[in-house]
Formats: sequence, structure tokens, C-alpha cells
Amino acid sequence: MNRFAVGAFAFSMFLMGAAISLSCGGSDTATVTTETKTTVSSITPRFKSTEFTDPATCGGCHQEIFAQWQGSMHSNAFTDQLYLKMHEEASHDTGGTIDSYCTGCHTPIGTFSGEVPPTSGPQISEISKKGVQCDFCHTVTNTNFTFSPSKVKQGPFSDSVSSFHETAYSELHTKSEFCGMCHDVNHPTNNLPLEATYTEWKNSSYAAQGIQCQDCHMTPGPGVTKPNPGTAALGGPERPQIFTHFFAGANASTLASDQHQKLSRENLQAAASVELVPPAPVTPGGNMDLKVQVNNKGAGHYLPTGLTEVREMWLDIVVIDPSGKEIYRSGALDENGVIDQKAVIYRTVFKDKDGQPTLKPWLAESLLSDHRVPPAGSVTENYSVPLPAGTSMPLTIKATLRYRSAPQDLVDDLMGKGTLELPVIDMVSATTQLL
Ligand code: HEC
Ligand code: HEC
Ligand code: HEC
Ligand code: HEC
Ligand code: HEC
Repeated sequence: MNRFAVGAFAFSMFLMGAAISLSCGGSDTATVTTETKTTVSSITPRFKSTEFTDPATCGGCHQEIFAQWQGSMHSNAFTDQLYLKMHEEASHDTGGTIDSYCTGCHTPIGTFSGEVPPTSGPQISEISKKGVQCDFCHTVTNTNFTFSPSKVKQGPFSDSVSSFHETAYSELHTKSEFCGMCHDVNHPTNNLPLEATYTEWKNSSYAAQGIQCQDCHMTPGPGVTKPNPGTAALGGPERPQIFTHFFAGANASTLASDQHQKLSRENLQAAASVELVPPAPVTPGGNMDLKVQVNNKGAGHYLPTGLTEVREMWLDIVVIDPSGKEIYRSGALDENGVIDQKAVIYRTVFKDKDGQPTLKPWLAESLLSDHRVPPAGSVTENYSVPLPAGTSMPLTIKATLRYRSAPQDLVDDLMGKGTLELPVIDMVSATTQLL
């Protein structure tokens, strides 16, 4: 089955003459005006991409920061092959009207200089291919995509001096609202929240305690603000705390560098815990009631978050008898890498205009279901495991929480089988025995 064949309809009619907004954490929007059904939505170029400085130039002095950013999903946000394929689908389904909406966050410099869309062609400069980069983030002065080429680099220090550029203290850069500019994605026309990482955080106990995105995603390794003294630039002063630029999340595929894959795995393995409530004694011939609790102990938002209609986190439950024979399984992968459809899968499911589930966020009209683990919260799953008469005891029960960035069959449909194998990460597991 082609996972993407569902509901290809003329989305473009909704976009006729519409104003596409890049949604952001706050209520501000940057309006990208689309013309008609037949014209590709366009943005009036604000500047030339060449007026920005290439990350490698910044890296001449900010060597560590550059090395951390390089290979991150921010640096790859526009060249990411999975992104480009999804963009192609979205563009096809909407007659091109959605193009600059997508590229706005994936290559802000390319979009606002008018080089993209289209996402391929000789008009795209090298700097526009570098995704979410230094001279975009550090010239932002407002969450509604207010940025422009500038000698002044916005940052967290009030006493910073550089011979190459001017500096300015920006409180915004120390707050989640800065990230929320892109990490809350609403549907461009019906405003349905598609990704809500910022909002999830805002409503969490982390926000109440003042723990920002930066405190977890710009600190070395999993956890909250770990001591990281050092210098921010060659010749810069020694400072008590430097913020790292790995921006590691959960992408452990080859779309990210080896180092970023490793950091993502560590994040995933620190994010959750699983508890198996030992079942009450049972006699074979009946059902064993099993409770599995999944706790979100490390993520400052839902688990999973972001593109949750595509991301997969699920429970793999195995019960084996003393000879090692599997007597129950929920959550196995079949030969095509598809998760057992009866498994507990943590994700969001959107409905298209015909009420059918869709993996295409641009066709989403409403939310069908949302089963995920809230920040600092937990969910409990109940299993009823049939134990055939004659089952020998004791039984070993193992529960493993797994993560994959996208369904493998979706990736195969989009990119061709064998192009991108997404790893399945074992986040955490628990084992118990039933005597
Ligand atoms: C010639 C060396 C050099 C180059 C090239 C350079 N910087 Fe800097 N930058 C510095 C130094 C030195 C500091 C001061 C560090 C400190 O105060 O700890 C600094 C500070 C900063 C700060 C902190 C500002 C603040 O007030 O918090 C930011 C942000 C920054 N640079 C971004 C960039 C970006 C983006 C580029 C590329 C467009 C770049 N730098 C290129 C040397 C350089
Ligand atoms: C996604 C946006 C983003 C990108 C891309 C980015 N930065 Fe930053 N940078 C930040 C934020 C946010 C902070 C401040 C974090 C804080 O203090 O809470 C920061 C802090 C800094 C600082 C101050 C020292 C520190 O690390 O605390 C320097 C210097 C800097 N960045 C340079 C760079 C350079 C050079 C690049 C490219 C190689 C880069 N940044 C890419 C968002 C970004
Ligand atoms: C308390 C620490 C913490 C805070 C605060 C936090 N995160 Fe995360 N984040 C994590 C951990 C751990 C993971 C890996 C597990 C997961 O995927 O959720 C993660 C994953 C992610 C992912 C990847 C999700 C995926 O499956 O693709 C994104 C994107 C992300 N965070 C963005 C943010 C943004 C934006 C904020 C602020 C609004 C934020 N995070 C706040 C800890 C944190
Ligand atoms: C210009 C928009 C933009 C801004 C601002 C931005 N991000 Fe991102 N971020 C993205 C995009 C787009 C991606 C996904 C790129 C991809 O996977 O192709 C991403 C990916 C990530 C990931 C990796 C997700 C994964 O799957 O592993 C993390 C973590 C993250 N961002 C955190 C942050 C934090 C923290 C901030 C604020 C300091 C921030 N971002 C600011 C656009 C942005
Ligand atoms: C408001 C900003 C924004 C807009 C607009 C946007 N994205 Fe993204 N996109 C993000 C962020 C942030 C992430 C990272 C979330 C995560 O890791 O789960 C992301 C992640 C993705 C990914 C996952 C990439 C990977 O390697 O796992 C794909 C694919 C993607 N976006 C496609 C699109 C398409 C297609 C559109 C237009 C229909 C679009 N995006 C519009 C911000 C945006």
C-alpha cells in the first residue's frame, strides 16, 4: 500500500489568494502573500543572500560552536532528503502554493532572499542551502521572522566585544520564545496545530520553573544546564557558561552526522522510563492482566514531539516461557519494517477532508487522535495476555520503548527502497518474571 496515496485533492483551492502565515510561538505572524491558484506563492525579496556571512566564516573564530552546529538537523534543514521529498509531495498536492510556507522555516535566508522556492535550481546560493544557520539566528530581533543582514550579532552577553562584528544583548535569545518562532507549526490555511513543541513546553512544569529549550538543547549531553565553562571565540574571555550548538533532538538517522546521531540516541535513552507492574498470579488457561507505565522524565514537551504524525514511539512487549519460546508479542516489526497495528503507538493522527487518516500534514483538517506522554507525566497501558492451558512457568515479561523518526514504508515510498534505513532506537526497557 502506498502510505502517501491517500486523499490527493486540490488543496490549492483553499489557498487561492490566501495569505500564508509562518506561525510562531507568540501571536505574531510573517505574512507570505500567495497570488492565485495558478501562481506559486512568492515573497518579496528583502535582501540578497550574499549579504549574510557564511557559517564557515563565523567558524573561523567560533570554532567549537561551528563544529557543533555542522551536521545538526539545523545545518541540514534544507538539504535533508526526507524534507525535500515531503516538500515535493506537498508542492504537488497544492499546486505549489504551499512552497514558501515550508521553506520559510527550513531555509529562512533562501526564502526571504527570494532564491527558493523552487527548492532546486541554479538560483540557490551556497549559503541558502545551509538551513537554520548562524547569521540567521544571530540577526533575529523579533519572533515574527524579523531578521536582516546586520553587522550587529544578537546574543546572550551584555559585555561582548569582537573586532569582526558588533554585538548586542538579546534577552529573546535566552528564552524558548526564540525557538517557538519555528517549533510551533500551524496549518497555513485552517490554522490546525500540526507541531506544537513550544506550546507543549509553555503549558508544562518546565516553563513554570523557568527551564528553557536552550537549557536542555544547548547544554552538553542529556539533562538540564550542566556546567560548561569556556570561551565562545578564539581570544574571547573565559566565561562561566557557554551554550553548545549541537541542537540534538531525536534524529539518529544518517540525515544527521555521526556525532549528532550519538547525541540523539543519548537523548532518547534519557527521556523515558518504563515500569512493569508485576501481574497477579494466574493459572494457564486464562488471561494475564499486564500493566505497563511509561514515564516522560527527560523531555520538556510531549514524548514524542514535533512532527508527531510521522514520528513513531511504541511499546514492544514480549512474553517468553522457560524454554525461550515466545508466547505473546505486541509491537513487533514485520518484514517491511511496519509496526504491528495492534501495538501501543505514541503519536498524533490527522484526518483529511474525507475523514481519512493522513500522513500528509498539509492535507490535515482535524485531529483524529493524540496518544503521547505529557512532559513530567506518565501513561499506563493495559494488556490482556492469553496464557494457553499447559503454558510452563515461570514466564519472563519484557517491555521495551522504541523510537523511529518515521515509518520505514513511508520513507521507502518517498525515496525508494534501500535509500534511507531509519534506525530503531531502544529507548529503555524493563523485565519482570511471573512465577
Ligand atoms: C574575527 C573573529 C570573529 C568572527 C569571524 C566572528 N566572531 Fe562572533 N565574536 C567574536 C568574539 C571575540 C566574540 C566575543 C566573545 C565573548 O564575548 O565571549 C564574539 C561574540 C559573538 C556573539 C555573542 C554576542 C553577544 O553579545 O552575546 C555572537 C552571537 C557572535 N559572535 C556571532 C557571530 C556570528 C553569527 C558570526 C558570523 C556571521 C561571527 N560571530 C563571526 C569573534 C568573531
Ligand atoms: C537556531 C538558532 C541558532 C543557530 C543556528 C546558531 N546559534 Fe548561536 N546561539 C543561539 C542562541 C539561542 C544562543 C544563546 C543561548 C542562551 O544563552 O540561552 C546562542 C549563543 C551563541 C554565542 C554566545 C556563546 C554561547 O554559545 O553561549 C555565540 C558566540 C554564538 N551563538 C555563535 C554562533 C555561531 C558562530 C553559529 C553558527 C556556527 C551559531 N551561533 C548558530 C542560537 C543559534
Ligand atoms: C527538560 C529538557 C528539555 C526541554 C526543556 C526541551 N526539550 Fe526538546 N527534547 C528533550 C529530550 C530529552 C528529547 C529527546 C526525546 C524526544 O524526542 O522527546 C527532546 C527532543 C526534541 C525534539 C525532537 C523531537 C522528535 O522526535 O523529532 C525537538 C524538535 C525538540 N526537543 C525541541 C525543543 C524545543 C523547541 C523546546 C522548547 C520549546 C524543547 N525542546 C524543550 C529535552 C528537552
Ligand atoms: C528558523 C526556524 C528555527 C528556529 C528559530 C529554531 N529551529 Fe530548531 N529546527 C528547525 C527545523 C526546520 C528543524 C528540522 C530540520 C530537519 O529535520 O530537516 C529543526 C530541528 C531541531 C532539533 C532537532 C530535531 C530532531 O529531530 O533531532 C532540535 C533539538 C531543535 N531544532 C531545537 C531548537 C531550539 C532549542 C531552538 C531555539 C534555540 C531552535 N530549534 C530554533 C527550525 C528552527
Ligand atoms: C513554522 C516552521 C515550519 C514550517 C512552516 C514547516 N516546517 Fe518542517 N519542520 C519544522 C521543525 C521545527 C521541524 C523539526 C520537528 C521535529 O524534529 O519533529 C520540522 C521537521 C520537518 C520534517 C522532518 C525531517 C526529518 O528528517 O525528520 C519534514 C519532512 C518537514 N519538516 C517537512 C515540512 C514540509 C513539507 C513543510 C510544508 C508543508 C514544512 N515542513 C513546513 C518547522 C517547520
